[in-house]
Amino acid sequence: RPQLEVVADAATAAARAAELIAARVVAGRARVLGLATGGTMVPLYAHLVAAVRAGRLSLSAVTSFNLDEYVGVAPQMPASFHAYMRLHLLDEADLDPARAHVPDGMAPDLTAEASRYEMAITRAGGIDLQVLGIGANGHIGFNEPGSDFGSRTRVLELSEATRRANAADFPDGAVPERALTMGIATILEAREIVLLAIGAKKAAAIAAAIEGPLSPNCPASALRLHAQVRIICDKAAASQL
Ligand code: GLP
Repeated sequence: RPQLEVVADAATAAARAAELIAARVVAGRARVLGLATGGTMVPLYAHLVAAVRAGRLSLSAVTSFNLDEYVGVAPQMPASFHAYMRLHLLDEADLDPARAHVPDGMAPDLTAEASRYEMAITRAGGIDLQVLGIGANGHIGFNEPGSDFGSRTRVLELSEATRRANAADFPDGAVPERALTMGIATILEAREIVLLAIGAKKAAAIAAAIEGPLSPNCPASALRLHAQVRIICDKAAASQL
């Protein structure tokens, strides 16, 4: 069973998640971090940056692997997850950019890129702590409903719901149709997982993940197969539990 922590508001939830991550890094128990993107993670990264600047945390020895990237969105484009990571973390904190990995959605051979990414994770010793958000449809990374629990890093088609949810990042209307994402099995291999969910939009997904059927219809329900998962929610995201 995931450990559930419901806190009063969004700001407290982000602070709690950042505190947990920082504590693991400081204790030497999160040498390899799995990182997520999305609006939910913005305040979390702001807390980590503040901790680094205050000298309470160093990420200089950390290796990181992001969950996913759009296919066909170049790293220099603002909507890419590469750009997101530079903006919110890499340009602001002391992570070594050479050790901050994001899947290459521009790779000419995406299948080869997916296996290269899996091998890089393995070579780094596996992910110690994986940070996750959740899609309103229950996706983790970009593992959309229907994703096999045994899935590994691969290319997949984004659902219409996800494309609509992320449309604001693509003002020209060119929302990508595909993404490269770590698979559910890849995510479950992390030694520890922390999922952060904020706001009423996530309430149904959180309820399905924790209390619904264990099913690919809600990819986040797979987290119940893992022994070390903490779900940090604000009250709104926990309101359907
Ligand atoms: C995105 C990402 C996920 C993220 C989710 C929720 O598209 N691929 O990793 O957790 O959707 O995003 P947000 O935090 O903006 O609601």
